[in-house]
Amino acid sequence: MVVPASDRLGKLPPYLFAAIDAKKKAARDRGADIISLGVGDPDLPTPARVIAAGQAALARAVNHQYPFGAGLLAFRQAVAAWYKKRFQVELNPETDIHALIGSKDGLTHLPLAFLNPGDVALIPEPAYPAYNASVILAGGETYFLPLLRENNFLPRLETVPADVLKKAKLLYVNYPSNPLSVMAPASFYEKVIAFARTNNVLVIHDAAYSEMYYDAPPLSFLQIPGAKDVGIEFHSCSKTYNMTGWRIGWVCGNADAVKTLGKLKDNFDSGVFQAVQEAGVEALTGPQDDVAEMRRIYRERRDIFVQGLRGLGWDVVNPPATFYVWAKPPKNISSARTAERLLEESHIVCTPGNGFGPSGEGYVRFALTVPRPRLEEALERIAKIVW
Ligand SMILES: Cc1ncc(COP(=O)(O)O)c(C=O)c1O
Repeated sequence: MVVPASDRLGKLPPYLFAAIDAKKKAARDRGADIISLGVGDPDLPTPARVIAAGQAALARAVNHQYPFGAGLLAFRQAVAAWYKKRFQVELNPETDIHALIGSKDGLTHLPLAFLNPGDVALIPEPAYPAYNASVILAGGETYFLPLLRENNFLPRLETVPADVLKKAKLLYVNYPSNPLSVMAPASFYEKVIAFARTNNVLVIHDAAYSEMYYDAPPLSFLQIPGAKDVGIEFHSCSKTYNMTGWRIGWVCGNADAVKTLGKLKDNFDSGVFQAVQEAGVEALTGPQDDVAEMRRIYRERRDIFVQGLRGLGWDVVNPPATFYVWAKPPKNISSARTAERLLEESHIVCTPGNGFGPSGEGYVRFALTVPRPRLEEALERIAKIVW
């Protein structure tokens, strides 16, 4: 007997990256030399100092047991010290920080901890698809706020209708943005805090890309006065230290909200592998030259790719941060068709923009996760497409 999937699961759109991966594999099986700019997974290795710390921690028997709870105090202290140094924000390691199995773990469990059926989550889009999926799985409802160029890709909070506001419990914010690559100014976060106070919503700021910037460093939401009263911030070692496979991140900010999420997680998992937490301590507290080098490499890739695409007539959002390039081809065609033509005619994998939400229609997202010569090769191939 085959038991069908739950109605809950049936409500989800197909997982964006799984579909792309399947197409990529099929093309590779046909012998195509694929340049994969689809999933945002760094090609660069984890820094040697972090690997060494992880190896040493792996050998310690104390790390072989269930980790449980909010994480090693040493990890939470490392997070607090990093926040103080990077953002001048004070966090109490005992109450304000919880280790996560990657930030996705916390982000996707969060709606189950805060939403009752029918409650609304306000999600600006295009956005990381996991926000909407986890709201649906929790029985919540999503109200999308379009992120448009004419508004500097910031949501217009004043447009949320009163009946939606009554049911709203969560507001998601993500800058630097995946997939848009843009950042937000302090004045926007001030508006978000006032909005959250007035409407009694919890702000969830996803700062997974805070260290992948090219000019002015992005702000932490928690730097803005009053933020800790209304919100929490998600961070990750994944992109900053090329540690996507290790699965380590954290949530921090409002102590009550951190505790509520922790209570939910106690019922789902048994914590972050301690050896990985120890590697995380090294990542956050050791010399940060490797992060500067990462920025240098991505900047070079960004400059080549953005200039190249623009030279080919593409409309490209200038990325001040992240390793994503958000772009439209020279002719007005759908995201799906653009992605299809790039794969079929150039053997280039990208992500169709509409997969991140309706306002992404017409765009595609490229992840700069291949070395410079491959990006140059990609541009040469794209140049041959007649749009
Ligand atoms: C905006 C955003 N947030 C969170 C994540 C999750 O990252 P991780 O679970 O590896 O910390 C990603 C991953 O791509 C992302 O793009």
